[in-house]
Amino acid sequence: EWTMPHYIDEAVAKIREQVGDEEVILGLSGGVDSSVAAALLQRAIGDQLTCIFVDNGLLRLNEAEQVMEMFAHNLGVKVDHVDASEKFMSELAGVSDPEAKRKIIGREFVHVFQKEAESMPQAKWLAQGTIYPDVIESAGSKTKKAHTIKSHHNVGGLPDTLHLKLLEPLRDLFKDEVRELGVALGLPHDMVYRHPFPGPGLGVRILGEVKKEYADLLRRADAIFIDELRASGWYEKTSQAFVVFLPVKSVGVMGDGRTYEWVVALRAVETQDFMTAHWAELPHALLAKVSNRIINEVRGINRVVYDVSGKPPATIEWE
Ligand code: XMP
Repeated sequence: EWTMPHYIDEAVAKIREQVGDEEVILGLSGGVDSSVAAALLQRAIGDQLTCIFVDNGLLRLNEAEQVMEMFAHNLGVKVDHVDASEKFMSELAGVSDPEAKRKIIGREFVHVFQKEAESMPQAKWLAQGTIYPDVIESAGSKTKKAHTIKSHHNVGGLPDTLHLKLLEPLRDLFKDEVRELGVALGLPHDMVYRHPFPGPGLGVRILGEVKKEYADLLRRADAIFIDELRASGWYEKTSQAFVVFLPVKSVGVMGDGRTYEWVVALRAVETQDFMTAHWAELPHALLAKVSNRIINEVRGINRVVYDVSGKPPATIEWE
C-alpha cells in the first residue's frame, strides 16, 4: 500500500545509497520544488547538504529572511546566503528589453552560483528540484522545434563545467505530489501552496529598466495585495496574483497639494495550465481595499489599476 511516510522512507534510502558520504549542493530559490527538495535531502543526508540561496534583489518582501528562518533556523539546513543584489542591479542598469533582462538575470545567477559552488570543491553532487512535468517538457523540446515566447530561466541550465553529478530526487513526482511531500516533511502549508513565481522575479514585473527604488516600492505594494488576498480567501481561488510596477507617473491630489507619482497594476488570474488564463473577478470591495492600502501605505504610488486582460492575447506576466 502506498503511503507518504513509506514513500519518504524509500526516497531517503535511495538518496543515501546514491550519495554515500559525499557532499551535495542545491540551489534554493524559495519556490516549491527547490524547497521540498531541500527538506527531503536534509532528511536523508543532513549535514552533507549545502544550499545556495542567491538574493538577486528581485525577490518579494522579506523573502530572504523567510527562507533563512525556515531552512537555516527551523530545519537546521546549511544555507549559504549570497546577497548579489547590487551586482544584479548594476548589470541591469540601462536595460529595458524584457528578453535582454531575462538573459542578464539568468547569466548572473549562473555566475554567482558557479562561484559559490567552486568554493566548495568537496561537493560532488548538484541537486535540483526537477519534477516529472519538467522531465517530459525537456524531453519534448528535443524533438519538437523549441517555441519560445519568453525564455524561461530557472535553476536548470547550469553549465557542467563544475563536473558535478546530478541528483534529482523529485523527478518522478507531479506538482501535487511534491506539495504533499513538502507538507509531510514539515514545510508550512502556505509555503508549499504558494503561487508560482518566475525565475527572473520582480525583474519582469518592473516594466522597462529595473531600479532598486522601483523594486522597493513594488515589493511593498505586492505584499499588501497578497496579504489582502489571503485574508479574504481569494489567494486559493486564484492561480497567480501579483503587482506590476509601471514606470509611469500620474497626477493625484493629497490634502491641498498635487502629487505626481507612480502607477501600479494588479494582476490576478485563474488558470489550469498557465497556457491560457482568465482574469480573476475579484470583488470590488477587495480591489478597493487593496487600492486604498497601497496608496495610503506606499508613499510614491498614487494610482492603482486592475488588469482585465485574458491570456491569450495578454500573457500572465506583463513582460
Ligand atoms: P506568461 O507570462 O508567459 O507566463 O503567461 C506563464 C507562466 O510562466 C511564468 N513565467 C516565467 N517563469 N521564468 C520563469 O521561471 C520566466 O522567465 C517566466 N516568464 C513567465 C509566469 O509567472 C506564469 O506562471
